[in-house]
Amino acid sequence: MSGIVLLLLAQAASAVDLNVDDRPLVYRVALQETPSRGIAVGYPNQFNYVLDSVSLTPLYIWTGGFLNLDGELKGRGGNPCSIRGARIELNLLRSPLRFGDASREPEDTVFTGYRRKGREAPVFQAEIDGHQVAMRLWSEAKNQVTIEYELAEDRKKGVYFSTAGFTKEAVTPGEGVTWLADDSALTLPVGKRSFRVTLDLTGRKGLMMKKQKITGELLYMQYCSACHSLNGLKMIGPSFKGLWGKTEKVLVKGQSHELVVDAEYIKRSVIDPQHDIVAGYALVPMPSFKAILSAEEVELLIAFIKQGKGQKK
Ligand code: HEC
Repeated sequence: MSGIVLLLLAQAASAVDLNVDDRPLVYRVALQETPSRGIAVGYPNQFNYVLDSVSLTPLYIWTGGFLNLDGELKGRGGNPCSIRGARIELNLLRSPLRFGDASREPEDTVFTGYRRKGREAPVFQAEIDGHQVAMRLWSEAKNQVTIEYELAEDRKKGVYFSTAGFTKEAVTPGEGVTWLADDSALTLPVGKRSFRVTLDLTGRKGLMMKKQKITGELLYMQYCSACHSLNGLKMIGPSFKGLWGKTEKVLVKGQSHELVVDAEYIKRSVIDPQHDIVAGYALVPMPSFKAILSAEEVELLIAFIKQGKGQKK
């Protein structure tokens, strides 16, 4: 039993932000408004981006904190998580790196994994129409990203990077990389294997993700539902069904008392659960949420317990 409680405690306490310290982080997670195969990459210098692993396409960047993982810990299936900043879309075409024809989306992109070495930018690998490609992306200046592709083998076919989504002025080709005649894409001469391009994002507006409104029900789902039911079922703790206004038998310092459940009592239960212990539940202590929930969040929970007659909408 205590194992379960510890696990629940760890879960409640980790419902927070994921930060990057001195090495880049790669995190595969369901993110709001992002294709399901997004991979988030965070750098120590507060630069972050998301890559669509299905097509090896960088999707958006943001600066600041990395991820908020509350969504992953909420409910059973896990809700999408959010990024901690305003996202700036790259608006590149799907699979901007192309072989043989700049205007044709590759038929087959197989993501084969990624490599990480110390503080270096993580390298993502894929096979695009049969060609081995390694890609990394980083930022050296504000509003600027550099994408580099390494091509494993020599090839006869031309290789192209479609710059759709960017004006010509916003694109700086790397060494040896040249424009096609119609300026629609960059290309790399046969014999060269490293393809680098720097994209300028100045002037693009960052979009905040729609923030999920915090409600008492959400907080209940996240922090309390593991131990308290709404339908009368006894779990690790007593059910919240019919709790408000009920006369409760509790132990205060080992002494039996009776009290009426009100806002003060619920608040005390959340902040200082050992103060009064519900009769019959003395064996398993409830964890304190003093350091986890804000005063407003406690109020939302009190209102949720008060209005809830045990039925979930
Ligand atoms: C790890 C399990 C656990 C979690 C998580 C938990 N509780 Fe409890 N809770 C208990 C136990 C056990 C008791 C009974 C012992 C006691 O009163 O301390 C209890 C008692 C209570 C009581 C008194 C109930 C009564 O019948 O008088 C309230 C109110 C309460 N919890 C609210 C909450 C709220 C709100 C949350 C979420 C923020 C929460 N609890 C999360 C285990 C838990």
